[in-house]
Amino acid sequence: MKNTISNNKKLWDRDYKWIKDGDEWDGQARYCGHLYENWKNSLIETLILPYLKNTTNALEIGCGHGRWSKILSENVTSLILIDVSPSCIDFCKNILKGESNLTYIVNSGKSLEGVDSDSVDFIWSYDSFVHMDKKVINAYIIEIARVLKSNGIAIIHHAGRNNNFLWLGFTRHWGNWGRNFYKIISMRRLKDHDGWRSNISRANIRNFAFVNHLQVVDQIQFWDVRKLYGVPRFNDCITILRAN
Ligand SMILES: C[S@@+](CC[C@H](N)C(=O)[O-])C[C@H]1O[C@@H](n2cnc3c(N)ncnc32)[C@H](O)[C@@H]1O
Repeated sequence: MKNTISNNKKLWDRDYKWIKDGDEWDGQARYCGHLYENWKNSLIETLILPYLKNTTNALEIGCGHGRWSKILSENVTSLILIDVSPSCIDFCKNILKGESNLTYIVNSGKSLEGVDSDSVDFIWSYDSFVHMDKKVINAYIIEIARVLKSNGIAIIHHAGRNNNFLWLGFTRHWGNWGRNFYKIISMRRLKDHDGWRSNISRANIRNFAFVNHLQVVDQIQFWDVRKLYGVPRFNDCITILRAN
């Protein structure tokens, strides 16, 4: 299945069961050898909370069932939740109805329509860009550059396929054989499936950032120096961008 906006919308809006509202995705924690709760807390303490100290207005792209939205909303003055799936936004409206600082947007799947230019201090997106194709990610990075305030930060979790083999990405649509072949060469992983990762590399994200005058602060797979906590499964990456 291709990583199109319509396939994402169909999957997450209608077909996916959301058995633990996102907390069922414990694969990265298990791959790192940690209990999911510890891994999740480590991520929140390292990649979310420190950035919220300087944040008034935050934005989350692809909020799903709000796995990260509550902690974001509790630590900022205003939070905008965006998702292409109307049912995900409805779900978040329901679980976060006590919070008065939230704005909800069901978008087209490639723009931050409804978000003012130069208005956001912090953008968070986890487990959503990993499934978006290159054109959609490019469109979002243009939008991220538009809405971030000067010195604003965006933290984006995305796929990290090997840049040298991206041109062979068409093979992953050749049934199981092609998908497996492309997984092995572009992720350097023998076991496991490919996590429906899109065909994008770290270099692609750096290039999109460069063209849009965003500084790449870091591109990481682990967020601690001992490389114990991170997103190594599927060879994923987290890019930290800063607006000039
Ligand atoms: C795997 S879920 C992750 C949800 C949440 N971020 C989490 O970590 O629990 C992917 C989410 O991204 C949303 N999504 C996928 N493609 C999108 C797009 N092009 N624009 C906005 N949201 C999108 C889906 O609707 C879904 O809610």
